[in-house]
Formats: sequence, C-alpha cells, structure tokens
Amino acid sequence: MIISKLLMGHKMIVIGGSSSKNLSKKIAKELDCEFSEPEFEKFPDGEIYVRLTSDVENEKVVIVQSTCNPPNQNYMELFLLLDAANDLGAEKISAVVPYFGYARQDKRFESGEAVSLETVSNLIECSGTDEIYMLDIHPQPLEQSPEVFDIPAYNLTAADSLARYIDENYSLESPVVFAPDKGAEEWAKKAGESIEADCDFMEKKRHGPETVEIQPRQIEVEGRDAIIVDDIISTGGTMREAINILQDHGANRVFASCTHPVLVGDALEKLRNTGVEEVIGTDTIEKEVSKVSVAPVISEAIR
Ligand code: R5P
Repeated sequence: MIISKLLMGHKMIVIGGSSSKNLSKKIAKELDCEFSEPEFEKFPDGEIYVRLTSDVENEKVVIVQSTCNPPNQNYMELFLLLDAANDLGAEKISAVVPYFGYARQDKRFESGEAVSLETVSNLIECSGTDEIYMLDIHPQPLEQSPEVFDIPAYNLTAADSLARYIDENYSLESPVVFAPDKGAEEWAKKAGESIEADCDFMEKKRHGPETVEIQPRQIEVEGRDAIIVDDIISTGGTMREAINILQDHGANRVFASCTHPVLVGDALEKLRNTGVEEVIGTDTIEKEVSKVSVAPVISEAIR
C-alpha cells in the first residue's frame, strides 16, 4: 500500500464545503480525483461541528467553500476545514473560495475601522493554507490578486465564460457587451474579446445634485443584442438601471450576467420585471440563475 502510494505519488482530494456542494463535485470531476464530503452539524447554540471523512495525511487537498450568505458561518466552516486538514497532516492545502466575502472593506476609510479583507486573509493563512484561488474578488482589478496574501493567491475571472455561454446558447444578433460602469470595463473587454463582440461601458452623467443619467458611451445599440457583464449583482439596482438604459436606446434582447449572483431580497424578481431576456450568473454562489460553472476555470488553474 505504502509502496504503491510512493509509486503513484500523492493523490488529490477535493473536499466540498456546505456552501459549494455542487461546484466542488464538478471540480473533482474535472480534476479526475476523489471527492470527499465532510460531516457538518450545528449545535443548539449555533456553533458548528465539522469532521473530515477522508484520510488526508500526506495528501494534496483542495477545500472549496464560498463565503457567501451566511458569511460568518461559511467563513467559520472554512477555517475549521482548513485547520483540520492541516492538523491531520495534509501535504498541501489549496483553498478555493469562489465568492470571497468580507473583501469590500479592503482599507481603513475611517479611523478605528477593522479592515476585514486583511482579517479574513490572515485567518485563512493561519489555518495552514498553502495557496488560494478566488473568482473576480471585489473590488480588485480583473485577474489581480489582493496584495494582503503572503501565500500564492490567484484571482480568476468568469467574464469570458459568461459571454461564451450566452453566445453558445442564443443566436446573438450583432452582439455588444457592456459594463454597467467604468469599474467593470475590464470585465466587458474580456467578455467581448472572447466572443469577438464590440464592448463599451456605461457612463454616468450628473445633471444636478439628484439627477444622474447613465448612457452607453459610444456604441450604437439599436437592434443589437446586448450583454451586460458585472462582477456582482447584489440588490440589482445597478443592473436594472443598465438594462433600462439599453432598452431605451433600442437594444434588441438584453442579457444581464455576473460572476457572483448575490441577489439579495427580491433582486431577481425586480430584474425579471424589466423584460430582460435572461439573468445569468455562475456557481460561485449556487442559485437558480447559476447557469455557468466556474469548475473548468478553477480546475485549469489548479492543474
Ligand atoms: C460595484 O462596484 C459592483 O461592481 C456592482 O456593480 C455592485 O456591487 C452591484 O450592486 P447592486 O446590485 O446592489 O447595484
């Protein structure tokens, strides 16, 4: 047994956290390796219990856990999984945090504030992680990893996967890709290039203290199919405004896409009420709109 292990080298085990059950299975399939589902329980006082169900000693493990809602519980589960794997002697631990919560507060805007991105990054490293993979972490520029990590950190993107999915599933008419604001321009460029479509970002014009107009910057959309790409749809406010503007400018079908479908409250319903053709997200957060899997992107990076 030991000899065959030595001959074959270390195997890889993908461990699925409770917030990324389906995605972690897909990653294991892509990597053609063992999938392991830990045992999770919750005590009456709210504390959580985690037990690894595979022998990880001297193995390479990939722990997949999105830190979406509920973020505190999902982070705690991630720390317990990472620390257990480390304590049980895993040879190498890769953390995959497809949606990386607590990233918005990446600096101290007012004195005394906790910088949550630094806090959670430190805790992930302290838990014995050797490397970390994330997708479109907010508010980092495209494919740039936050500098807070001392371990190798990879900020992958789903912008091109989203555009390809829409291109492959709908016969697009003269497509054009839009970012809803200047901040998302890189996403629109990446998405546009992947399907050889034009791209642009929306521009905000302030006409008065309370009057803001958003409009396509240069590109004519009349009669064309438009794809909006953003990193996050949270309340849906940004996306709804962008959809309305493109419709007002005569766009044919409008597709709303994002890497992370946070979709709080009735955000999805509000978007659907606009007459948008489709709302499409990825499975960094497993929701009904998660039509695009980031498993191939993550697996490719791990390989
Ligand atoms: C902003 O910088 C982000 O890229 C998203 O546009 C924003 O988080 C979306 O938020 P909401 O859906 O609440 O408008």
